[in-house]
Amino acid sequence: MQVAGAENLIAMAEHAVGQGDVEKIVDELRTGLCSVIRSGKVQLPEEFRHSCADHYARRLVHRDDRRGYSVVAMTWGPGQSTPLHDHGGVWCVEGVWEGSIDVLQFELVERDEERFRFEKRNSFQAGKGSAGCLIPPHEYHRICNPGEDVAISLHIYGGDLTRCSVFERADGDWYQRREKSLGLDL
Ligand SMILES: [Fe+2]
Repeated sequence: MQVAGAENLIAMAEHAVGQGDVEKIVDELRTGLCSVIRSGKVQLPEEFRHSCADHYARRLVHRDDRRGYSVVAMTWGPGQSTPLHDHGGVWCVEGVWEGSIDVLQFELVERDEERFRFEKRNSFQAGKGSAGCLIPPHEYHRICNPGEDVAISLHIYGGDLTRCSVFERADGDWYQRREKSLGLDL
């Protein structure tokens, strides 16, 4: 699907991923993504505002296999959320395009085979034009749209994220790991 003004986003991302060092890449992407969102130079298609009834929607904006990054838009219906999940060891920068989302961060503190113990860390509400990041091994979080309107976020990954682990609460702070495929919606 055509994203009007996508060249502004791609030029920013190409410059950032050329920095080499993950900390520098992520820092430049976070600042750049905030600027791109606030500039109004990039317009997501109207279809990206459509939420899916039974899951948050993931739609591909851009993928560059040579440089090793991808950009995915997520559309969150009211109350939609992710389970606690990781990012498969891939760094990520996440910006809010429309509405606002709640982010709950977790730290992995103990592992017993397929059971994992997490402690809650920060939680915050991110509004339009703000961006945050995940750098492995600090890559565990939940996201939800607490509002009554659709929210849209843009995620820039350091690769093509097609699978991740989700963690379902088993007992107290202990969670059971499950593999999840990450599909794309139209
Ligand atoms: Fe995530």
